[in-house]
Amino acid sequence: MLWITGAKGLLGSSLSTKCKAALHVKTGREVDISDIGSVRSFVKKNPGITHIVNCAAFSHVDAAEQYREEAYKTNAIGPENLAHVAGEIGAKLIHISTDYVFPGNLKRPLTEQDVVEPCNYYGKTKLVGEERVLAHSGCVIRTSSIFGKAGRNFVSQLLQMLQTQKEIRLTDDQWGRYTYAPDLSEAILQMLPHTGLYQYANAGIATKYEFGLALREEAILLGFPVITEAIHPVPGATFSAPCKRPAYSAFDTAKIEPFVAIRHWKEALRDFLCAQLPVYS
Ligand SMILES: NC(=O)c1ccc[n+]([C@@H]2O[C@H](COP(=O)([O-])OP(=O)(O)OC[C@H]3O[C@@H](n4cnc5c(N)ncnc54)[C@H](OP(=O)(O)O)[C@@H]3O)[C@@H](O)[C@H]2O)c1
Repeated sequence: MLWITGAKGLLGSSLSTKCKAALHVKTGREVDISDIGSVRSFVKKNPGITHIVNCAAFSHVDAAEQYREEAYKTNAIGPENLAHVAGEIGAKLIHISTDYVFPGNLKRPLTEQDVVEPCNYYGKTKLVGEERVLAHSGCVIRTSSIFGKAGRNFVSQLLQMLQTQKEIRLTDDQWGRYTYAPDLSEAILQMLPHTGLYQYANAGIATKYEFGLALREEAILLGFPVITEAIHPVPGATFSAPCKRPAYSAFDTAKIEPFVAIRHWKEALRDFLCAQLPVYS
């Protein structure tokens, strides 16, 4: 049986829909992963858990600067608690981490062996979390820029903006790889038997500006009521934010590729848009 923590979030809800009902125990916030007592009591009430996928996180990057204790408890202590309890019940833990563990100063695809040095507090807490899971022989999958139907994400916000704003400014000096939540969910299921550190994202490196242009074009083709006439490329410094983001954090995904299929983000983007189209019957 599979337990998905953070099952109401962007990734967790996608993973939950992918799994057959018989396979998983879903929880929203009934369990606080930063409290080991709460985790132990949950697994006691739900015997037979063989795999735990940790999609729970304090994921608000800017807020993590202000709410440091909460971010640390959820992103560092939480995965450690899950790793402990997984060990106690003989279950396997798959934990999700982030490209924000990288400093962002190398401009080439980054492997699992590349130096990590987070440039913000969120990245620091996530790095501690992944180290603790790996110390307990779990599996860590780093991912980046997730988009999907549920939850707060850049792509859903941008789709809204395209339908409400004549002009949009998007950064063109931060490079990464986008990840469609259902594709990552499929990859997670393929990785259930594995341990160690892996990186997964859809293929193709893009800035927000490049992504925005493709989204606009595809949305128009599919008949969305787009009113945006121009998308302007701007430097990241145009927008003030409480913390830095890595300028370059695109993964090299060669290590995971023998186990999972990876398609280009443009193909995934079309599926994302098709899933948003209204259905009349
Ligand atoms: N989104 C991205 O672009 C992105 C990029 C790279 C990596 N990641 C990683 O991918 C994973 C999934 O992210 P996501 O975007 O799906 O996050 P999300 O939408 O914010 O979902 C996180 C879920 O965790 C729950 N949660 C928070 N603190 C908890 C705690 N102490 N105990 C139990 N549950 C708790 C949240 O519940 P509440 O809503 O009630 O707080 C929420 O349902 C995270 O590990 C994140 O770091 C995300």
